[in-house]
Amino acid sequence: MSSHRPETVRRLAAPDITARKGAVPIVCLTAYTAPMAELLDAHCDVLLVGDSVGMVVHGLPNTVGVTMEMMILHGQAVMRGSKAAMVVIDMPFGSYEGSPETAYANAIRLMKETGAQAVKVESGPAVAGTVDYMVKRGVPVMGHVGLRPQSVLVDGGFKAKGKGAEERRRILEEARATADAGAFAVVVEGVAEGLAREITEAIAVPTIGIGASAGCDGQILVTDDMLGLFDWTPKFVRRYADLRGEIGKAVAGYAEDVRARRFPGPAEIYFAKAG
Ligand code: KIV
Repeated sequence: MSSHRPETVRRLAAPDITARKGAVPIVCLTAYTAPMAELLDAHCDVLLVGDSVGMVVHGLPNTVGVTMEMMILHGQAVMRGSKAAMVVIDMPFGSYEGSPETAYANAIRLMKETGAQAVKVESGPAVAGTVDYMVKRGVPVMGHVGLRPQSVLVDGGFKAKGKGAEERRRILEEARATADAGAFAVVVEGVAEGLAREITEAIAVPTIGIGASAGCDGQILVTDDMLGLFDWTPKFVRRYADLRGEIGKAVAGYAEDVRARRFPGPAEIYFAKAG
């Protein structure tokens, strides 16, 4: 007899996402906090606890300084706020490149301590063997090719990839190796449409594009970018809201009211009980 009571809403899992290949577009956004995860959950297939959290939330210049502890705290928050979307958590720089064994131990820690259903790794030339090692031991892995933000210090900036024939060939090869190693999906970032389509045709699992055209099987954006929370928007982002403007207006209104002693008003205070 088991006392286990199944959840009424089953989260999407890696095989559900893989099965969408070439059929139903996959909707993904980043999430770092419980309230935002709650808002996104009903609309997204995948919530990615991206290591972009380091830049978006913690003000770091890039993702290199992101730690396991940061990913675990944000992963736990996103799991608490969501119930239907699949939650994928980024493995931070330095947590998986050294050896398959270290990668596996860190992936297990991320999954056990957060409850996330999969990890994502930036799958450069040295990582396919690690993806294979982890998948064979029960860790669903999402790959990430093209512009790999964790390589920013080697690349000298966040630069679109695949401009020359040799680099295009290499990225296609990395995507193939990642998929062949058992990844359930592959993020393709910052490449031209032709290469994105070529990768999408070449691999058996879905491609999730970011700055990589509609030629991919799904799309992902950094939520704060598409909500217009920053004063700068990358070329590939569509701003679906201007939350920066809205927040500016709201905070200016609050500041004016406090300074003019208009806030709080009679409806916004507690009254002491008589006697
Ligand atoms: O860290 C991140 O947010 C990402 C996505 C933008 C793909 O890797």
